[in-house]
Amino acid sequence: MAAGSVAGAAAAQQADPLITELQDWASYTGVGVDEVPYGMPIEFEKHVVRRNVEWLTASPISSINFTPIHALDGTITPQGCAFERHHSGAIELRKEDYRLMINGLVEEPLVFTYEDIERLPRENHVYFCECAANTGMEWAGAQLNGVQFTHGMIHNMEYTGVPLRTLLKAVGADMSPDKWVYVEGADASSNGRSIPMEKALDDVLVAFKANGEALRMEHGYPVRLVVPGWEGNMWVKWLRRIEITDMAVESREETSKYTDVLEDGTARKWTWVMDAKSVITSPSPQMPITHGPGQMVISGLAWSGHGQITRVDVSKDGGISWETARLGKQGDTKALTRFYLDTEWDGAPMLLQARAMDDTGYVQPTKEQLRAERGENSVYHNNCIQTWYVNAEGIAENVEVS
Ligand code: MTE
Ligand code: CO
Repeated sequence: MAAGSVAGAAAAQQADPLITELQDWASYTGVGVDEVPYGMPIEFEKHVVRRNVEWLTASPISSINFTPIHALDGTITPQGCAFERHHSGAIELRKEDYRLMINGLVEEPLVFTYEDIERLPRENHVYFCECAANTGMEWAGAQLNGVQFTHGMIHNMEYTGVPLRTLLKAVGADMSPDKWVYVEGADASSNGRSIPMEKALDDVLVAFKANGEALRMEHGYPVRLVVPGWEGNMWVKWLRRIEITDMAVESREETSKYTDVLEDGTARKWTWVMDAKSVITSPSPQMPITHGPGQMVISGLAWSGHGQITRVDVSKDGGISWETARLGKQGDTKALTRFYLDTEWDGAPMLLQARAMDDTGYVQPTKEQLRAERGENSVYHNNCIQTWYVNAEGIAENVEVS
């Protein structure tokens, strides 16, 4: 490449009708401001949507779809393409019909309306929400050929809400450290979960806005729980009741589901925190390299339920050698961090990997390390290093290296 030239850019003297001829969009007027009161992405981007995998679940009512993380950049997930996970479908609940009851070990059980919650001091925070089942199909071997499907049970939004501790104080809850907070939703599944008091008093939010707007129906309109860094299942949508209890309830969602079966058949429970993880979103199976050898950007996402991402390394040779990536900006706590490796591709096949580190010193494990510790019976909490094989044509494929 000539000094000072930009990858792929053509010399200005070449005749290109897009440069030399008057185009339609400059010859006529465009769409008026009164025609689209609420904007959708332009039609050329209509492939950037949530997708589900039909064979994964028996019915789309108790199912999951996936965020198109291969096609997004930055860190904020637009609500319209942020993954959904329902156990009994998304429900339509009007603000006027919304009630939140807080009872159990409290001085005064209270019922809050939506308006009551809006009158309390609120905060804004960006957090990722990752389903514990994200990457869960990959334990036994490379399965799904797309980062949307292997890693797309995640979204990252700016939430506006009232700290849970504010509501607990309002009812005079017993806030001793050995108490538990049981939360449930208004949908048929109720999705009840027990949260230890220490977490409930720390950073949990009762949220009513995401990315500045009202929550979408599918994300719990009008009010959902935000449990930063902890598995998505605890982020109860359509939040309807909070009970202060002496003991964990041991509901379905924290016994038969959302526990991790180990090699010897015993199950780990209370594995709430989502450990540090990263993945390259481009190139990836849905994002081949289309431009040939030369200058390119390798990009991806990293996150940790324990805190901040401090460093991400990228390997082009399946983990033999590593280069440190550039973080798009200083990582937020318990939020997605974007990383970039600005690099040159020589056109040879690559085994691309990313490896995240967080501010606790934790390093994302290889698939081998994770299997050695957890066996292969698990579904949840797979945070291992992902490998994409990129061939000389730039086509990427989900593979495993050993
Ligand atoms: N809350 C209720 N009430 N019902 C549900 O089915 N699904 C849980 C959690 N909260 C669920 C729920 C699961 S498993 C996850 S991963 C997150 O919500 C997903 O949130 P999202 O649909 O906004 O992506
Ligand atoms: Co989930």
